Amino acid sequence: MPQRYHPVLVVLHWLLAAFLIGLLIAGTVLLAPVPNDDPAKLLSFRLHMGLGLLTFFLMVLRLAVRLTTRTPSPAVTGNAALDRLARANHWALYLLAFVMAGSGIAMARASGLPDAVFGDGPMPPDFADYTARRVHGLASRLFMALIALHIAAALWHHFIRRDGILARMRLGPR
Ligand code: HEM
Ligand code: HEM
Repeated sequence: MPQRYHPVLVVLHWLLAAFLIGLLIAGTVLLAPVPNDDPAKLLSFRLHMGLGLLTFFLMVLRLAVRLTTRTPSPAVTGNAALDRLARANHWALYLLAFVMAGSGIAMARASGLPDAVFGDGPMPPDFADYTARRVHGLASRLFMALIALHIAAALWHHFIRRDGILARMRLGPR
């Protein structure tokens, strides 16, 4: 069993953590509370949609590398339920990243947003009537909670259990 994740997974883990946390904060603070006719929102839309799409492609790459490379043996805590929770949370994080990207793309397509943001089409007044908007909003809150749990668990491993877990997500000889 390797001691660390594949280097591509290590790089993608930290890059995508930054992208996803940035998208979650910017979506909540710079998009949701601002009316669509505010000209300042155009740049936020461009960045959010561009970064959201890039995140989607990198998540596909990440999943493909994850499923085809060997990973370190699952970290154990001494509590079987906690170990199962960790594995379930990892897969839920993958799933929610795809739900966020998928619902974002669905909402944009249904509302004609790409034409409004990158062309000269009409801007939708808001997204309230789109199911994909509700999925995007609700999934974002669940995603935030699971990321918080994941970070708390990583810090608990590192500082309390001192089992060197962060080294598994670092570049180095495998
Ligand atoms: C958006 C934020 C994040 C997401 C979506 C995320 C997702 C994941 C996923 C899915 C895994 C399992 C490995 C895999 O299957 O690829 C993982 C592992 C890991 N993550 Fe994160 N992560 C995030 C942020 C963080 C942060 C901020 C830390 C550090 C404080 C961290 C520390 C770790 C560690 C140490 C592992 C290895 C766990 C193990 O070996 O069992 N992650 N992460
Ligand atoms: C891939 C990861 C993505 C994350 C983490 C993310 C995150 C967020 C968050 C947190 C919000 C605010 C939700 C709320 O407070 O109710 C939001 C809104 C939004 N996102 Fe995303 N997003 C992602 C991808 C995308 C993509 C790919 C698109 C479109 C192509 C998109 C389009 C939008 C739109 C149109 C809004 C609504 C803005 C409004 O209500 O005025 N998102 N996003």
